[in-house]
Amino acid sequence: MKEIPIYKPSLAGNEKKYVTECLETAWISAKGRFVGEFESKFARYVGIDHATTVCNGTVALHLALVALGIGPGDEVIVPTFTYIAPVNAIVYTGATPVFADSDAKTWQIDPNEVKRKITGRTKAIMAVHLYGHPCDMDGLVAIARENRIFLVEDCAEGFGSLYKGRHVGCFGDISCFSFYGNKTITTGEGGMVVTNDQTLFERTLHFKGQGLAKYRQYWHDVVGYNYRMTNVCAAIGLAQLERADELIAKKIEIAGWYDRQLKDSFFVRHDPVGDVRHTYWMYSVLVPKLSMRDPVRLRLESAGIETRPTFYPVHTMPMYSAKYEKHRIAEDIGWRGINLPSYPDLTPEEVDYICENLKKAI
Ligand SMILES: Cc1ncc(COP(=O)(O)O)c(C=O)c1O
Repeated sequence: MKEIPIYKPSLAGNEKKYVTECLETAWISAKGRFVGEFESKFARYVGIDHATTVCNGTVALHLALVALGIGPGDEVIVPTFTYIAPVNAIVYTGATPVFADSDAKTWQIDPNEVKRKITGRTKAIMAVHLYGHPCDMDGLVAIARENRIFLVEDCAEGFGSLYKGRHVGCFGDISCFSFYGNKTITTGEGGMVVTNDQTLFERTLHFKGQGLAKYRQYWHDVVGYNYRMTNVCAAIGLAQLERADELIAKKIEIAGWYDRQLKDSFFVRHDPVGDVRHTYWMYSVLVPKLSMRDPVRLRLESAGIETRPTFYPVHTMPMYSAKYEKHRIAEDIGWRGINLPSYPDLTPEEVDYICENLKKAI
């Protein structure tokens, strides 16, 4: 039987060569040539002034919020339909996550919902570009400006995605990426914080490096963190970045194969909406009825095809559900969605096989 995982990274470039260099030169911690090179080339690729590596995407989000001075008493508006990390990062700072519903077509945070949730305590909006589709950045930037609040972008699933021709990550005050093994480019575990704001960048570096003062060795003037990335991870990241265009093009091509197979089926696709480049971090579909999702997934599993459910809305989880408020779209997508295998080395035959089994399951 075929075994098709949901994801596996493609490491066919200079990854091995660069990691070997780290081992041979003994530069294996957070110093070494690959860290700086990965940061500067990443910033250039995305089109932003500053980038700093961190050890994963969750701490990238925490660091960004800390740099913005967000803390107890503040509210941050976040989509309820999201991976848990951005919500956790808000809670780590002592701030309160305020959940907003999503747009039914893009599956991203709905700017109208954001407007409804703004209070005197709102300090920031967290835009999470889910599954590779950009959020409505015109809408979110306008709300942030009008209300003089910060905009943070979580681009963990949106590396390479474009909104009106610009990379996601360039619209907010500060933005974050993840390079976990299933991300479009990976470092194994890793992340990046990017910004065009010099002050925010300096604050990010300060908190990332244990709050070390600039003017005296081993003197710390804030409570900081060790969120550094190793040179070994950065070596993998640089090799991946060299292949970014190729990996993104491949993912878009694979989405085209899925689209062709599923265009006349009962499945609802997650198509691009507006002037965007959707990079299909995960190619995802909705089943026609909620009750079909798990049987369809089981059917695929028995054919050796790994799938994932879309994210359950965070406001329904035990930590938050005591203050339950209906979020209709998030609850619908969260319970009807399936992520399909989406790694760059998938073949057309494998996509045919997956779609055949999907159609049979319905
Ligand atoms: C939207 C989103 N934000 C943040 C993260 C956290 O990244 P990491 O796993 O690198 O901590 C992830 C996923 O892994 C994610 O999907």
